[in-house]
Amino acid sequence: VRVAVIGGGANCEHEVSLASAAAVADHLDPAAYDVVRLTIDPHGTWLDPGGRPVGLTGAACLLRRCDVVLPVVHGPHGEDGTLAALCELAGLPYVGSGVRAGALAMDKWTTKLVAGAVGVATAPGVLLTPGTRAGHRWTHPVVVKPVAAGSSHGVSLVEDADGLDPALEAAFALDDRVLVEDVVVGREIDVAVLGRPDGSRVVAPALEVVTSGGLFDHDDKYGGHADLRVPADLDDAAAKELEDAAVRVYDALGCAGVARVDFFWTGAGAVLNEVNTMPGFTEHSQVPRMFAAAGLGYADLLDVLVRDALA
Ligand code: DAL
Ligand code: MG
Repeated sequence: VRVAVIGGGANCEHEVSLASAAAVADHLDPAAYDVVRLTIDPHGTWLDPGGRPVGLTGAACLLRRCDVVLPVVHGPHGEDGTLAALCELAGLPYVGSGVRAGALAMDKWTTKLVAGAVGVATAPGVLLTPGTRAGHRWTHPVVVKPVAAGSSHGVSLVEDADGLDPALEAAFALDDRVLVEDVVVGREIDVAVLGRPDGSRVVAPALEVVTSGGLFDHDDKYGGHADLRVPADLDDAAAKELEDAAVRVYDALGCAGVARVDFFWTGAGAVLNEVNTMPGFTEHSQVPRMFAAAGLGYADLLDVLVRDALA
């Protein structure tokens, strides 16, 4: 089976996507798969397996020679449904969520609306646009984030009124819609859901992210400072509530393949933070670790994802 692994991408998660794609390519069983690696550079130029620019048409030709596409691009212009759209239009099977789920989940505002509609709490928050930004006043500690970004880029914790403007500046630099949310106090718990073509859902043991204090920020994620504990130390009722909420959100968004649904576990129960339809896939990332804890190793997880895409 010939698998196209797409990495990189024209967004601020470029480096993470390169690392995820490299790990995915390394873990696809060479006895079963021929891997063709394509990369999207930070400017959006497609590169062939030799690193030569081939343009979109050239990339499409290479993709059409593959049996299945594994788009390992986090963030906008990848995880947001655009790569799924390319595969749909080219008639190519691909791993993971389709256009709609990718687009809905990339957008933290629509995710909030969908989650609320199926009874899953999110942080109270308001949406700011360039038109409403000036009228917004700081009244209490908030988290400011671009509606569509990833890996904590452009996210700030604002503890006093003076911090608001720089935080909005940083977030609006990445998106023209910005969320201002109440700070949620709770443990960070990630739940990975794997949807199978027969409609069954496999939920890996929850993982707790124990940070060095403050936000689980870019440094924690990629500087190796965070302590990832799997299985998370939760009682049965808490584990079940988180698992049910994760599956409800996964299904309401219409996800496919594996998605990582990130929560805060608070005194009032589960509060959804975000959904990643193409979650980090380096060896150190949460998803491979969570499924490993369920007895499904990295190569086997990829095997399931590719086979399901072809089913
Ligand atoms: N958005 C990053 C890659 C994650 O899901 O881990
Ligand atoms: Mg994300």
